[in-house]
Amino acid sequence: MKTLIHNISLILHIDQHNRKHKRGKELGEFPTTENAWLLVEDGKIADYGTAGSEPVADEKIDAKGGMLLPTWVDSHTHLVYAGTREDEFAKRLHGMTYEQIANEGGGILNSARKLRSASEEELYEAAAGRLDELIKLGTGAIEIKSGYGLTTESEMKILRVARKLAENFPIPIKTSFLGAHAFPEEFKDNHAGYVKQIIEEMLPKIADEKLADYVDVFCEKGYFSTEEMEKIIVAGKEKSLKSKLHVNQFNSLGAIKICTKHDAVSVDHLEVMTDEDVAILAASDTIGTLLPGCSLFLEIPYGPARQLIDKNAIVALATDYNPGSSPSGNMNLVVSLATFKMKMTPEEAISAATLNGAAAIELSDELGSIEKGKRANLILTKPLSSPSFLPYNFGHSHIEHVLINGKIYE
Ligand code: NIG
Ligand code: FE
Repeated sequence: MKTLIHNISLILHIDQHNRKHKRGKELGEFPTTENAWLLVEDGKIADYGTAGSEPVADEKIDAKGGMLLPTWVDSHTHLVYAGTREDEFAKRLHGMTYEQIANEGGGILNSARKLRSASEEELYEAAAGRLDELIKLGTGAIEIKSGYGLTTESEMKILRVARKLAENFPIPIKTSFLGAHAFPEEFKDNHAGYVKQIIEEMLPKIADEKLADYVDVFCEKGYFSTEEMEKIIVAGKEKSLKSKLHVNQFNSLGAIKICTKHDAVSVDHLEVMTDEDVAILAASDTIGTLLPGCSLFLEIPYGPARQLIDKNAIVALATDYNPGSSPSGNMNLVVSLATFKMKMTPEEAISAATLNGAAAIELSDELGSIEKGKRANLILTKPLSSPSFLPYNFGHSHIEHVLINGKIYE
């Protein structure tokens, strides 16, 4: 089956060298094809070229002068959760801090209470509704974490829901086991006991049932220490799970050095970074994933994107979609925020939200750029004056169609 997309004003390839990621100033390199067509064959990008040389196809999609870019890859979400937390949001508006709310038993523990009493079916229905909405907003691959269960059974319940989403939706979905998200009530005074349970019970079961692709830890004051994080990273490795970590959200504790030493796939958040943290990350192959939606919502600093890029780091962008610190899964907004608040150029932000996002879930051999042989997960925009219009005209929808495996997603 061949589908020809014609009348494209501009293809944003992101890359044309089959690179796994773009690092430092490469992030701003932005190859394009003007007045173009693109041929999809059996769900993959088969060819592209300029107007006048269109091949024959079984069906045609008229792009009507829109631009074509790869779908967003959202490499950090907590999509499977129960209930919402706008009550905590209102408390913050009345002056309480995120930390004070968490200390009162709110925050992650609030979501854990809600999740434990929700059935797998209820969780699936809610998450499927969200995922459907995100695909329509242009997300063509996603990572989903556990972390609101905090018991073996509830963590597995989340990951089974994520695996079921992967079976029923046409986009790639990777999962991360985040049992080390917070210490549950039962282990409030026995941190070592919970870390032991993660390492000796949860991780082996989850790895044996192949429910997770990665292991994650929230390394932060009041949550997991760098020592506890390292133990969990090592235990994950023993079960062949690479790591993606929550680090440097509120404090710099020295986590980045440990994560890069263990070849973490990514370190995420990075709102609070010392010059040394930036230098260590920039010298490594670990991807720095910035989450500007969380900074916006919690009114915390934005990650130092400019410094990281200028020092040659690999930077990705993701939503952190979750009910507590970033209740939006809209990658279009993330790309806008990255330009306004982190001084990334539109080209850098779009590259970080596509190819480097794909690299952050080890999918860049099949996604993240418009190159021959890659999966045809594509955003076809309305007619726009230039790529910069995407982040500039924030809050508006520029998407005409989202194509998944070459088919219009409806
Ligand atoms: O990535 N930082 C840790 N965990 C989540 C938010 C957790 C919550 O408030 O529910 C995050 O921001
Ligand atoms: Fe997160």
